Amino acid sequence: MKKALKILGFTLAVVVFLVVCAAGFVQVRGIPTYEKPQVAALKIQVTPAQLKQGEAIAVSMCADCHLNKQTNSLSGKLLTEIPPEFGSLYAANITQDKEHGIGNWTDAELVALLRTGIGRDGRFRIVMPNFVRMSDEDLHSVIAFLRSDNPMVKPDPTPSHEQEPSLLAKTLVNTVMKPAPMPTAAVLAPPPADQVAYGRYLVVGRYKCYDCHSKDFKSNNDIEPEKSAGYLGGGNKMIGDQHAEIITRNITPDPETGIGDWTEAEFVKAVKYGMAPGGGLRNPMPKFSVMDDAEAKAIFAYLKSVPAIKNATPEDGTGSAVATR
Ligand code: HEC
Ligand code: HEC
Repeated sequence: MKKALKILGFTLAVVVFLVVCAAGFVQVRGIPTYEKPQVAALKIQVTPAQLKQGEAIAVSMCADCHLNKQTNSLSGKLLTEIPPEFGSLYAANITQDKEHGIGNWTDAELVALLRTGIGRDGRFRIVMPNFVRMSDEDLHSVIAFLRSDNPMVKPDPTPSHEQEPSLLAKTLVNTVMKPAPMPTAAVLAPPPADQVAYGRYLVVGRYKCYDCHSKDFKSNNDIEPEKSAGYLGGGNKMIGDQHAEIITRNITPDPETGIGDWTEAEFVKAVKYGMAPGGGLRNPMPKFSVMDDAEAKAIFAYLKSVPAIKNATPEDGTGSAVATR
């Protein structure tokens, strides 16, 4: 018995020692650096249609994090919707300023970052979503917008704030949160006429609805989104205004807990204007107000086709919709 206890004690000591070493390693290593992805040099051709498209995507997909209300430009800010246990994390200045923004980044460097999350210096960018399934055309239009004369991207000299990740955040980026691999072939979007396929593209590629609307960011699969745990079934805990905990909702076609009993018109209104049958939708649900109706309808058609998941999320009257910390 005594011997067994001794062995147990020794084993525990070894485990504690290893955990302390690992924590120390992660603390010192911080946010990891990777080899820069190979992206062939490219020069994006700018057309007026592309600029319009790029602006629409950036307003929906980049502004929520990067738009600073003081400067009225994409000069970056503290992300208050990140749970405090991850530390203080800041969206970067992505205006055209050559020193503090992305004025000196090449198109290829921007493609590499948006696809994989790896910056021009090799450092992994945390929290910044990867757009690994966005079509080449959409991605190029976003970059064309970043280079345009739109006031949101005019050079702004506000320095990007250094990240202050917690040990937990550092552990995650050293373990489960890794850069996405660079696509090896052209990424194409299906034509809008193919409504369900186009809707799927919008959900997994252009707008990444599944990213927030599946079970947890940590178990999402960026390469094969349908393999994300609880794909589109909601339940992901996020932080909204005034640090309220907001749980994402089930948008699979389950009639009781999902959107199976919604009409197309109700859905379009909820997505574009944040007005759902159950009431107003709060941050961090983006308002996709510049999305066109055809896109919202295609998303609805696709969502109707995905496997229904029964998962009661707050609008169903279970759980607490707002839990103030
Ligand atoms: C969920 C919030 C979020 C969204 C949405 C987001 N970003 Fe970011 N982005 C960040 C954060 C945070 C950083 C800084 C990360 C770091 O330094 O580790 C960042 C960094 C960047 C950088 C690197 C800048 C630098 O100097 O390192 C670029 C470029 C960028 N984002 C572009 C975009 C574009 C374009 C979009 C939309 C298509 C977008 N981001 C959407 C949060 C976000
Ligand atoms: C940044 C995270 C995020 C993204 C991206 C996102 N959502 Fe949401 N969505 C939420 C949150 C959080 C809620 C719950 C808001 C609340 O409780 O007030 C929500 C609510 C909804 C609802 C209301 C459902 C109900 O039962 O009331 C619908 C519909 C919806 N989202 C559709 C979408 C679609 C479609 C997309 C992509 C075009 C999308 N969302 C992208 C976070 C997100």
